[in-house]
Amino acid sequence: MEKARIAVLVSGGGTNLQALLDAERRGELKSGEITLVISNKADAYALTRAENAGVRTAIVTKAEYPTQEAFEGRIIELIEENRTDLIILAGFMCILSADFTSRYPERIINVHPSLIPSFCGKGYYGLKVHEAALAYGVKVTGATVHYVNEVPDGGRIIMQRAVEVKEGDTPEILQRRVMEEAEWVILPAAAELVCSELIRKKHKGEMI
Ligand code: GAR
Repeated sequence: MEKARIAVLVSGGGTNLQALLDAERRGELKSGEITLVISNKADAYALTRAENAGVRTAIVTKAEYPTQEAFEGRIIELIEENRTDLIILAGFMCILSADFTSRYPERIINVHPSLIPSFCGKGYYGLKVHEAALAYGVKVTGATVHYVNEVPDGGRIIMQRAVEVKEGDTPEILQRRVMEEAEWVILPAAAELVCSELIRKKHKGEMI
């Protein structure tokens, strides 16, 4: 059966990319295939994970380009060459412009390590999200997978999962629990849901 072609954008360790690769290998992500991984950091371990899985990689750093437009232009070129159906932001630490996101309506999804609308938007990324959750004193946090539009972390929610905050948690401990119990579960599940929907629409002859 035909599969949706997925490009994953990363910046760091790539544990969410790994969760997607593992889900594909196990047949849980069956309506999509990861065909390209793009990193904006040359030393991201996520690139090694992609290579180990035999997935094509590309590096596009902001320093190589004079403007955000030129930086995004190169990413768009790679995405088009790949005939990408779905873009997954998996720990991609750059905010994409409205010009970029409006090209791919409901074709970009992102995983965020909190229960949106808490602790999200500009400035909330990576460990900072968990620092903010602990500073506020919430007893429950979690992760969200959502569509990406021009509002940072503002697109329609696809899936969420709650995670308990425990006595004595550090930002690092909480980050790990949110990844294990929520992100690595809902990101592959949401990817499968969105890909299966894209394939279904294609078969019905709707534009995808
Ligand atoms: C993940 O926790 C992801 O949710 C978060 O960065 C981490 C990347 O880890 N993303 C954001 O904060 C985006 N706003 P990974 O590279 O191991 O997947």
